[in-house]
Amino acid sequence: MLVTLAFGASFGCMRGDTATDKPVASGANSSLQGPLSGAGAMLPLPPVPDLPADKVALGKRLFFDPRLSHDDTIACATCHKLDSGGSDRLPVSVGIDGRKGGVNAPTVFNSSLNFVQFWDGRAASLEEQAAGPVHNPLEMASNWSEVIPKLSLDDGYLRDFKRLYPQGMTGETIVDAIATYERTLLTPNSPFDRYLAGDKDALNPLEHSGYQRFLDYGCASCHQGAGLGGNMFQRFGVMDNYLKDNAGRQADLGRFNVSGLDKDKNVFKVPSLRNVAVTPPYFHDGSAESLEQAVIIMGRYQLGREFSSEDVNALVAFLRTLTGEWEGKRLQ
Ligand code: HEC
Ligand code: HEC
Repeated sequence: MLVTLAFGASFGCMRGDTATDKPVASGANSSLQGPLSGAGAMLPLPPVPDLPADKVALGKRLFFDPRLSHDDTIACATCHKLDSGGSDRLPVSVGIDGRKGGVNAPTVFNSSLNFVQFWDGRAASLEEQAAGPVHNPLEMASNWSEVIPKLSLDDGYLRDFKRLYPQGMTGETIVDAIATYERTLLTPNSPFDRYLAGDKDALNPLEHSGYQRFLDYGCASCHQGAGLGGNMFQRFGVMDNYLKDNAGRQADLGRFNVSGLDKDKNVFKVPSLRNVAVTPPYFHDGSAESLEQAVIIMGRYQLGREFSSEDVNALVAFLRTLTGEWEGKRLQ
């Protein structure tokens, strides 16, 4: 069902600016030659994978366990609140001792769909990602030789790890269990998915006109695939420099911090727009408080367009249809 469409004429300016060696998705989409736009760029959310229930349960317990942090105060779920869109709704996250990080926390919902993890793509997998916060001095500020003895005092953990992994509890098996749990954190049944599945009434006329604008204006050349994002890197500020006021702030350098290449300055993983209505504030620096603001900024800096209020209303209405369900309830 994938149709490779030409990289739209309205984006000619961006061609070759795609500061990445891997412009499109990994996995199933890896044969694609360049960014897609138009309806062919959209994919429904895949079904929740069928993973071993006991490993998922172990990962869930770890995800909620503050003993993964140095002073037993911060769990993954402290910053990735599953009842608040899988994020913390703060411009930047707060770790142990009130320490502030440099970037906004993305949601963990649907993160398994991302081609790489983190804003700058520095982790290739969920497993690699999960070790990050445990060791990050601004987040959980710990390490495996501190965490494993603490968790080993818990007979339940010892028993479960022994049963599920021949090597027992190690840094590797801890992140394996957490990543297994994260792969179940998909949010099906959004109005947009019902629409893609053929229910043409799942979007009202305003939402539908927002979807049309999303395709016509070229949002979908960057926000595409099953995540409506999460499958390529792009510069933030294609048409004008959005980040000029923060010149030199390290987190704003994005992908450059990983590759050291000048062409990667201010380049970020295009974020997934699934559930975006419930994960304010927006952008890697949390600089947009509302979805309206984020859409206006995208128009101006990524597309060189000043949107009318009709455009903004329609696009925001469409983005709200990307909110799915978790454990049978619409995310709020
Ligand atoms: C102190 C708050 C905090 C804690 C604790 C925390 N995270 Fe995060 N998480 C963040 C922030 C901030 C980012 C973005 C960091 C970046 O991109 O550089 C992030 C990124 C992620 C991502 C990548 C999502 C994406 O779209 O790229 C995943 C997955 C994730 N965290 C899972 C976890 C797991 C699992 C744990 C526990 C082991 C955890 N987080 C603990 C704040 C936190
Ligand atoms: C040239 C690629 C590109 C185009 C075109 C584009 N975006 Fe984006 N979008 C990005 C990137 C990159 C980011 C992340 C910027 C950052 O925070 O560093 C982003 C972020 C966003 C966010 C914030 C998401 C979050 O969780 O913080 C929203 C909302 C958004 N885009 C909507 C749109 C809409 C609507 C359009 C069309 C009007 C659009 N984008 C067009 C690349 C693009």
